[in-house]
Amino acid sequence: MKFENFNILATAGYTPERVVPNSELTTMMTTSDEWIVQRTGIHQRHVVTAERTSDLCTRVAQQLLQRSGLQATDIDYIVVATMSPDYQTPAVSAQVQGNIGATKAVALDVNAACSGFVYGLQVVHRLLMGDSPKTALLIGGETLSRLVDWQDRSTAVLFGDGAGGVVLTSALAQDGAFIAADYRTMGEQGRYLTAGANGIDSPFASDPQPVLPFFKMNGRRVYNFAIKQVPASLRRALDQGHLAVTDVDYFILHQANQRIIERIAEDLTGSMAQFPVNIGQYGNTAAASEPLLLNQLVTSHVIKRGDVLALSGFGGGLTIGTMILRY
Ligand code: ACO
Repeated sequence: MKFENFNILATAGYTPERVVPNSELTTMMTTSDEWIVQRTGIHQRHVVTAERTSDLCTRVAQQLLQRSGLQATDIDYIVVATMSPDYQTPAVSAQVQGNIGATKAVALDVNAACSGFVYGLQVVHRLLMGDSPKTALLIGGETLSRLVDWQDRSTAVLFGDGAGGVVLTSALAQDGAFIAADYRTMGEQGRYLTAGANGIDSPFASDPQPVLPFFKMNGRRVYNFAIKQVPASLRRALDQGHLAVTDVDYFILHQANQRIIERIAEDLTGSMAQFPVNIGQYGNTAAASEPLLLNQLVTSHVIKRGDVLALSGFGGGLTIGTMILRY
């Protein structure tokens, strides 16, 4: 028997306790609650004070095990999507594997910035294919507050920290979740959004470059990229799945900017009814944003078994990715 599809067994989410409301940012830079809310929809963000990305992801992994009733030793793969790992090595996924004692699991990280969770879904889908049933944890986790220059109002107001994830298994593959997917990478536009530049500072460097940890973003370019590419990607995936926009119960879009989501909703359906938003609470949490929203909607019983979900992420790379699945 071949196992080629997967199901979502459980969802989880975790955000650090410390909340930074817009009003607090007005004491750190020249900005206002009104500007931030009007231009982005963000009211507050959660930030770490001591935790690292691996701590947030470990919390999510523990929650996933508890909610799915699985043991750590039942897990075959752990994939973490992140652009803000604790180290260049070990990978966050390996740290999580060690922390929860998933002795059988093979662990790897995926870095596709804000598309990371959707890219991770595709990676896990392929890993789960085979002759025997397999189970994976897919977690998106970020501590973007470490990559933000808290003096730079053009980026500091946007980002937040958090983690979310899902347990996926191919064991019930005859009735699988996967419907369609569309992925594109546009590396020639990568310069419009960078963070965590490593620098070149060895004694052999001909032209030493400093480490530049902070976000640099051409907001306008990324905005225009998103409002054009996300609807295009969603349409390609819908066509592939022989679906109309009305067949989708919820579009779970990367939460980067409320205005971007409104523009995409306007383009696709003319209404926000199928486009849930939680950016007001969390800001842009990159790879964590979609699993955090998914978990929020599942735990509040908005999303029900059988619902068709279209997840779409966009961001650094530049990357764009869409997966349509049945919850
Ligand atoms: N507070 C007050 N004023 C501000 C702030 C701020 N925080 N930030 C910028 N401004 C000012 C600017 O200086 C500018 O002033 P000026 O007209 O006097 O020069 C004015 O506000 C307008 O600035 P714009 O950059 O044109 O504002 P815009 O409407 O484009 O909004 C934003 C900026 C929110 C960044 C928007 O462009 C955006 O959301 N872009 C997409 C970002 C994104 O989605 N990134 C996702 C990927 S992230 C990832 O992959 C990790």
